[in-house]
Amino acid sequence: MPIRKHDPFKDPLEGLSSAVNPYLELLREGSKGALPLLYGPALAPYPGRWREHLSQAMGHVPEELILEIGSHLGEVILQMAADHPQRAFLGLDITFKRVVKMAQKARHLTKSNLTSILANAQGLEQLFAARELDGVIIFFPDPWAKKQRQTKNRLINAQFLTTLANKMTSEGWFWFKTDCEPYFSEVLAHAKALGWREESIGTSLPTQTYTSRFERHFRDLGLATYESVLRPPQDPRTPPSFPSVKINS
Ligand SMILES: C[S@@+](CC[C@H](N)C(=O)[O-])C[C@H]1O[C@@H](n2cnc3c(N)ncnc32)[C@H](O)[C@@H]1O
Repeated sequence: MPIRKHDPFKDPLEGLSSAVNPYLELLREGSKGALPLLYGPALAPYPGRWREHLSQAMGHVPEELILEIGSHLGEVILQMAADHPQRAFLGLDITFKRVVKMAQKARHLTKSNLTSILANAQGLEQLFAARELDGVIIFFPDPWAKKQRQTKNRLINAQFLTTLANKMTSEGWFWFKTDCEPYFSEVLAHAKALGWREESIGTSLPTQTYTSRFERHFRDLGLATYESVLRPPQDPRTPPSFPSVKINS
């Protein structure tokens, strides 16, 4: 069951009976400390204090803070968290079951450096303070491609990229993958207009191959996928230009 609320600090489970969905109880119990997961009002203290919060579980201040939006069952971010124990990771999704499943797996990480968050990414503005994120991953966001009028539902647009740029450190990176070429071109065009800079894959953190579940699915079907690593604008008043490149075909 997915949440629809955009305000991340409102309780998305409010008024829902555990009889409706078995994951509700796991979420409620998990958020009391049984699992590394957070949602609703419990998120409110953390904007601007994520590193401090995560350092309590990790035993040291994390070198970097990385967010994955649409983390699904956590395949990519669990591997990243295991590969980079000095860094802290947050996986965000709107689906009860996925958030619980990822938290159940994250519990076994030696460094306790991954927290699962139940929230809608439309609430990014409230969830993070300015310059708080070092890396952001969005792999295969829902393309809303079946009908032209649905494209307005896409998560990544000019407004979202503006918010994201504000939340990222100046050396931060945004790693985006999709199978939907029109969505890819649209995101690159918005990014270019806003002064984001495209960078070669593999020159920042994502040096390893992290293949997501959806990516494998599309590749198994022989379908093209597209990806880009983007750096936020240094000075939004003087946007540099960069070529729009199709990477995997
Ligand atoms: C198509 S799946 C891709 C999953 C995974 N990233 C991958 O590449 O295998 C999209 C994921 O994004 C989540 N999602 C969709 N809209 C979201 C939103 N507004 N905020 C957070 N997660 C969202 C879905 O629940 C789903 O897990």
